[in-house]
Amino acid sequence: MSSHLEKQSPAPAPPITLDAVVLAAGQGTRMRSATAKVLHVLCGKPMLAWTLQLLPPLAIQRTVVVLGHQADAVLALLGQKPWAGVLTALQAEQRGTADAVRTALPVLPTGPDTASHVLILYGDTPLLTQDSLQKLVRGAVGNALSLLVTTVADPTGYGRIVRGRDQAPVRIVEDRDCTAQERALGEINAGMYVVAREFLQRALSQVTTQNAQKELYLTDLVRLAAEAGLGVEAISVPADEVLGVNDRCDLSVAEDILRQRINRSHQRAGVTLRDPRRTYVDAGVTIGADSELHPGVMLQGNTRIGAGCVLETGVVLRDCTVGDGVMLKAYTVATEATFLAGAAAGPFAHLRPGSVLDEQAKVGNFVELKKTRLGRGSKASHLSYLGDAVIGANVNVGCGTITCNYDGVHKYQTVLEDEVFVGSDSQLVAPVRIGRGAVIAAGSTVTQDVPADALVLSRTPQMNRPGGALRYREKRAAKQAAEKDNARGL
Ligand code: UD1
Ligand code: CA
Repeated sequence: MSSHLEKQSPAPAPPITLDAVVLAAGQGTRMRSATAKVLHVLCGKPMLAWTLQLLPPLAIQRTVVVLGHQADAVLALLGQKPWAGVLTALQAEQRGTADAVRTALPVLPTGPDTASHVLILYGDTPLLTQDSLQKLVRGAVGNALSLLVTTVADPTGYGRIVRGRDQAPVRIVEDRDCTAQERALGEINAGMYVVAREFLQRALSQVTTQNAQKELYLTDLVRLAAEAGLGVEAISVPADEVLGVNDRCDLSVAEDILRQRINRSHQRAGVTLRDPRRTYVDAGVTIGADSELHPGVMLQGNTRIGAGCVLETGVVLRDCTVGDGVMLKAYTVATEATFLAGAAAGPFAHLRPGSVLDEQAKVGNFVELKKTRLGRGSKASHLSYLGDAVIGANVNVGCGTITCNYDGVHKYQTVLEDEVFVGSDSQLVAPVRIGRGAVIAAGSTVTQDVPADALVLSRTPQMNRPGGALRYREKRAAKQAAEKDNARGL
């Protein structure tokens, strides 16, 4: 069987081969959510994807994800490109973690190319690192099973590790089945195992539901191996790698840990984070060296930031591409927008999908762009809406300019050729084209194409009435006096 993950560069092969089973069938009752637990997002990535992304470097032969609750929604995630080749098994009724693994085995039939061991991971432990996973795999060599354990200050909810006289683990006791003495044990089961395939097959048929939850516990494997005199290797890893997400409190703790890891990796790569505790960068976002992120910046989705950029407080970018040396002032919000080198935006600029700021182009406060390219060196410094527009180089878009792009049914394009000057408070009624170098006088409503170098004036001619203001004020004063008399009942 060929590996579905063969494009990745594998780590040195251990003397065992691996299939993988990832358990993701549970409802996640404690999340109190309409969304399946493993689809909740941490730093922009679904929980299950955090686990699955650990597998490629291990050269796993086959991977099975066990689905149950909201199987369709989880299948939709698995249908995405990175997970092509991942197999699934349906656990119609969630009868426990051992039952889930049992469900997966028929999808991994035995044959000449069956892996010697099965890596079992839970879909709700997104903090595991590659390093610990490698240790887990090495720990399985020569043993019936290896598992990851850790010691935590508050072990509530976790299975406790009970060790025998020789310090080898003899069983795992689930929180609900603990005696008072066992409950006090601080060493817990992380829920990650590598199990010899033959032993797994045998032991799964011996697991019973004799426990508080009347479930088939995978954790019974430890007892079964110990009773059979087989080797069990418990590997201690840092507590912040094994947190299981069961409720929304765990979710925020886990996301915080992932965020700190992401932020540190950017800092080490030369990015200044003024306050890493308040900087929110999704997994997979790239940032060039010497860029500076102020508190409250959120970089989401597939966002790429160049080198030497400054992103002031409150900048929120989703799926944006930002070139080198771009200045984004406070509260610039952009989605699917492109900023070429040296462009600037904000404060309070809004760039909607399809917006492009060419090199050295600039938008200022309260300017909204949608599907609009602002050419090299062009400026829209204040209070404008520019939608469906193609704007050339060195154009000045005056304060309060609006492209009237929508007639209630269709959207139309506005074209401003190079060097156009648009006076303040102008409306450009699309479709309309303003020729190169044309000047639009302030307050114009432009409904027809304008030839190059023309001056456009479309306002009503101005009329001055000498002394008119004096007469106006006299009239107003007389009216106010009459109103006062009225109020006094005179
Ligand atoms: C489990 C362990 C516990 C460990 C903890 C670590 C068992 C019996 N207990 O407890 O020792 O300390 O994880 O986080 O294994 N699942 C299925 N089908 C089922 C039941 C569960 O696919 O029938 C999946 C869930 O979707 C989840 C994972 O298995 O991803 C773990 O299940 P969960 O109910 O969260 O187990 P815990 O009580 O946390
Ligand atoms: Ca759990």
